[in-house]
Formats: sequence, structure tokens, C-alpha cells
Amino acid sequence: MNYGVILAGGKGTRIKKINIPKQYYEINGIPIIIYTLRKMLSIKAFDYIYIAIDNDYYGVVNNYLNKFIDKNSLKKIKIVTGGKERIDTIHNVIEEIKKNDISDNDVIVIHDAVRPFVTERILKDSIEGARKYGACVASVKVSDTMLISTNGEYVEKIPDRNSIYKGQSPDSFNLKKFIELETNLTEEEKKIIVGTSQICTMNNYPIRMIEGDNINFKITSDSDIDLAENIILSSERGGKNEKTM
Ligand code: CTP
Repeated sequence: MNYGVILAGGKGTRIKKINIPKQYYEINGIPIIIYTLRKMLSIKAFDYIYIAIDNDYYGVVNNYLNKFIDKNSLKKIKIVTGGKERIDTIHNVIEEIKKNDISDNDVIVIHDAVRPFVTERILKDSIEGARKYGACVASVKVSDTMLISTNGEYVEKIPDRNSIYKGQSPDSFNLKKFIELETNLTEEEKKIIVGTSQICTMNNYPIRMIEGDNINFKITSDSDIDLAENIILSSERGGKNEKTM
């Protein structure tokens, strides 16, 4: 079985221009989370897709699903309550998934709701990578010069960017291994964790990088919303059907 997960329990506080969590912002009449979900559905490789949301948005999400997703695909989708931090949201999803009969070869692909431009290639490589390596993360080599500054004013150091990559999502795992790693996280580890792949690095479990794509950026700031809007609207003008976005 392949389990897809869409993390949508965040509040999007770094975005100032809209007053709803960014995953629900509509571009061309379609909320961002639906673009992401459609992309995951399009590869037809997921047996289940768990969507983790803040309970206050249960009705909103339910309406979106009924409006934008076909009946057959709806059967695969399960809604889970998100948590305070991203890692708590992941924990809640894992608790729900654990209720299934899990086999040794099952895979989990964990993706951010706010990366709607993930490509089909990345999703397929993620599933394959999880099966082959046990754990993998989509990543891209940085192209800008990286500056280290602890005071935020002066540059202290410029590291060699040949060994620096941006971690994206999905983070994908052999499901049994991921449950084991997640269950063993200490409260201290949970407090400092910033990305899903850290669950591996904290436990000295190897995580393989697979090729991400700069288009798979995380909508984080106001300018990212503008960029997402431009990408979607210009692809519409170029004649692409919304379903391919
Ligand atoms: N996320 C989640 N549960 C949380 C926090 C985040 O499921 N408690 C999800 C977000 O909905 C998003 C992804 O994790 O799809 C990446 O989160 P990020 O954009 O970094 O955080 P947000 O909390 O959404 O935004 P901000 O940090 O600006 O408040």
C-alpha cells in the first residue's frame, strides 16, 4: 500500500495579505490544497490520502472535496485533525494510519499542502525511493551564495555551497520504519525538529536525497502567493487545463 499524506494543519502566519490559512487561498477559483491533492491523485499510485487539517476548517474542506474531487477519488481520502506544531500533525496522522493492517512494504509519502507545484515525477520518485532506500527527501542544490550570520547584521562565514541543499517535501519512508522512528522521538527532540527528514538524522537512520525541483517551492510569504498566482494564471492563459496544474 502507498499512503499519501497532505499536511494542512498550519496557520500560515508569515503571510500577511490574506486572512485565512494559505492552503485555503483560492487561485482561479480553486484552493491551493486542491491543486496539491489533485497532483497526488493524478499519479494514481496512492491507496489512501490522509489530509490533516485544523478542525475549524472541517466543513470548509469537506465542501471543497465534494466540489472539486470526483466520487471515486473521495473514497481514498481521510481527514485527520492536525496538531499544534507540524510534528504533532504528523503524529496524529501516524496514529490514524496505525489503525490499518500494515505490511512490511508499505510506503508513506508526506507532503506539504502548500507545495502545489510538486511534479508527478517527484511523487513517483519519492514512492520508489522510499521502497528502495527506506527513507528519502526531495531536495535541490542551492544556487545562491549562503551567508551565515548569527546576529543578522554581519556575515560571519560563507560555507561551500556544493554541499548545501534545500530540503523540500515530500519526505517518504517505509511506513513501518517511519512509525518506529516517530514513536521513539523524545519530547526534547520534538521541540527542536524543523523538518520531517530530521526524524531520520536524529536517529542516525540514513535518508537518501532525491532530485526535487525549484518549482516545488513552499508557499511561505506574500511574494510566494503572488508567484503561485502568476504560475497558475499564466498556465491557464497558455491553454493548460486546470486539472493539469
Ligand atoms: N502544518 C501542519 N500542522 C502544523 C503546522 C504546519 O500540518 N501545526 C503544515 C502546513 O499547513 C503546511 C506545511 O505544514 O502545509 C508547512 O508548514 P509551514 O508553511 O512551514 O507553516 P505554517 O504554520 O502553515 O505557516 P507559518 O509558519 O507562516 O505560520
